[in-house]
Amino acid sequence: MRVYLSRPDITEKEIEAVCAVLRSPDLSLGPKLAEFEQAFANYVGTKRAVAVNSGTSGLFLCLLALGIGSGDEVITTPFTFIASATSIMMAGARPVFVDIDPVSLNIDAARIESKISPKTKAILPVEIFGNPAGFDRVCEIAQEHNLPVIEDACEALGSALHGKKAGTFGTMSVFAFYPNKQITTGEGGMILTDREDLADMCVSLRNQGRSKNSKWLNHERLGYNFRLSDINCALGIAQLARIDEIKAKRQRAAKWYQEMLADDRRLIVPTEPPGCELSWFVFVVRLAGEPSICQRNQILDTMRSREIQVSDYFPAVHLQPFIAEQFGHQEGDFPIAESVCKSTIALPFYNNLTKDDVAIVCRTLKEVLDENLPVA
Ligand SMILES: Cc1ncc(COP(=O)(O)O)c(C=O)c1O
Repeated sequence: MRVYLSRPDITEKEIEAVCAVLRSPDLSLGPKLAEFEQAFANYVGTKRAVAVNSGTSGLFLCLLALGIGSGDEVITTPFTFIASATSIMMAGARPVFVDIDPVSLNIDAARIESKISPKTKAILPVEIFGNPAGFDRVCEIAQEHNLPVIEDACEALGSALHGKKAGTFGTMSVFAFYPNKQITTGEGGMILTDREDLADMCVSLRNQGRSKNSKWLNHERLGYNFRLSDINCALGIAQLARIDEIKAKRQRAAKWYQEMLADDRRLIVPTEPPGCELSWFVFVVRLAGEPSICQRNQILDTMRSREIQVSDYFPAVHLQPFIAEQFGHQEGDFPIAESVCKSTIALPFYNNLTKDDVAIVCRTLKEVLDENLPVA
């Protein structure tokens, strides 16, 4: 590969922080866990933070803590990473999809109310590609209907809408730390909430159903092992300390792409939405017009054959075969999401992407578009 889709950015200081834990006796449930949770809650601005071993387990625990299960419905978006929907299914509930806004690509708040039924127990919106646009409206609707919001902020660490940080919109919110995220712990996630009862329940559920004061082998409820080790937490603390620098590096890469692709009418190039501070997660361009999925896939394949790693963030969740089959979805159910899904090209994007890397990607993309989608 000449340019990878994503690369981690780990400093010597971070390696040292991990090694220090490895030299200590506290590899799990030690001081780094509490320190990471506190630093994270302080940064985003919530009362409590509960670290878990992935964003997926974080979403699942939020649903359980809110008492959501079999026979319940949770409203979410079909344009997301699959875990937003599968976490609902893991809890035994049904994901009820609502089409997206064609500009923000987030769940369309105006379409939510028509999907609320007596079975609806929560709304699970996703800040897709880190974008919090429309979240104020989603929260108003939830409040009018007395529904909790589980904010899937897995892609949005450091974003804000009208000065309000991503992660503070929901009754509960979840971040994720897979290596392509703004900060990484290798694998990991964080649940945030202002509600002590929900945070305490998540602490118990992530640790085999133990209660705060129970003995190690006494268990109060059905729980899981979703703990995040102190090794991971040490990396997370050191990464979080660099979040401003990380955001600036990603913003710089986004600006290079915007400048180099601005004049190409075959592409819709992402920009910072009005009123938002976008913490760039990925750089996803879209093919303008109504490309077929074959045309888009041909472009992806050709880019890969020229050693530029690209991806199709995201295929429509409701059309993943096992979900379509279980809930009876078919093509045409959510036309805006489906049309967006056919047009996306995620370009290489990470902290230390150089201007030369961006130039190689943009030059190659334009050549590939010339071959596949000549300008009319
Ligand atoms: C929107 C969204 N939700 C949930 C997740 C799940 O996070 P994890 O991979 O840590 O389980 C991700 C991670 O890619 C994500 O992007």
